[in-house]
Amino acid sequence: MTGVRIAPSILSADFAHLKDQLAMVEAAGADWIHVDVMDGRFVPNLTYGAKVIEACKRCTTLPLDVHLMVIEPENYFDSFVKAGANILTIHAEAAPHLHRQVQRIKELGAQAGVALNPATSVAVVEEILADLDLLLVMTVNPGFGAQKFIENTVPKIAHARHMLDEAGSRATLEVDGGVSRDTIARCRAAGADTFVAGHAVFAAADPAAEIAELRALAS
Ligand code: DX5
Ligand code: ZN
Repeated sequence: MTGVRIAPSILSADFAHLKDQLAMVEAAGADWIHVDVMDGRFVPNLTYGAKVIEACKRCTTLPLDVHLMVIEPENYFDSFVKAGANILTIHAEAAPHLHRQVQRIKELGAQAGVALNPATSVAVVEEILADLDLLLVMTVNPGFGAQKFIENTVPKIAHARHMLDEAGSRATLEVDGGVSRDTIARCRAAGADTFVAGHAVFAAADPAAEIAELRALAS
């Protein structure tokens, strides 16, 4: 397993001060910037696209971990990679041709991830584990920040860890949703290595201290 990564999600950032918010989490030791793209179709919320990815790219040297909560994600691969996305993660529920989409992301020079909603079994990626750079186990239903962590996703994280290890995969195992001081250690113990945190970081009185605390609790 790789070391622990903390990936603040800008979904909970102050967009009037996005540049400062990115600089602040970078200085605080964040590893990746998590960018939640929502289309109002796959999830009942709308966020941002290539324009914001490109703006983030100009404001940080950290890798941009782009989570596509959209239908027909392939429509965005070219423009998002061109805008500076380093990792593109698509939802298994939104991509019936997962193998083809994962290969396409890699052809474009980005890392390829697949995300699973809480109700989706890890088994749906079993046949393509070797192709994945990242597996994202959602620990809330996607669409909004600051939701409550779903406890029974913890054994699923452990199951995903077991499947990746069995397959000899070195893919990142990321968790997203409700990650906080109260939940991060359980996710780590179950085998996750990369932790998205939106509300926990950006709503904290001292976001830098919060990142350090999350890392300590996961280490
Ligand atoms: C949820 C998004 C998450 C969200 C996490 O749909 O995919 O990345 O920003 O937010 P918190 O950490 O606040 O649960
Ligand atoms: Zn996300």
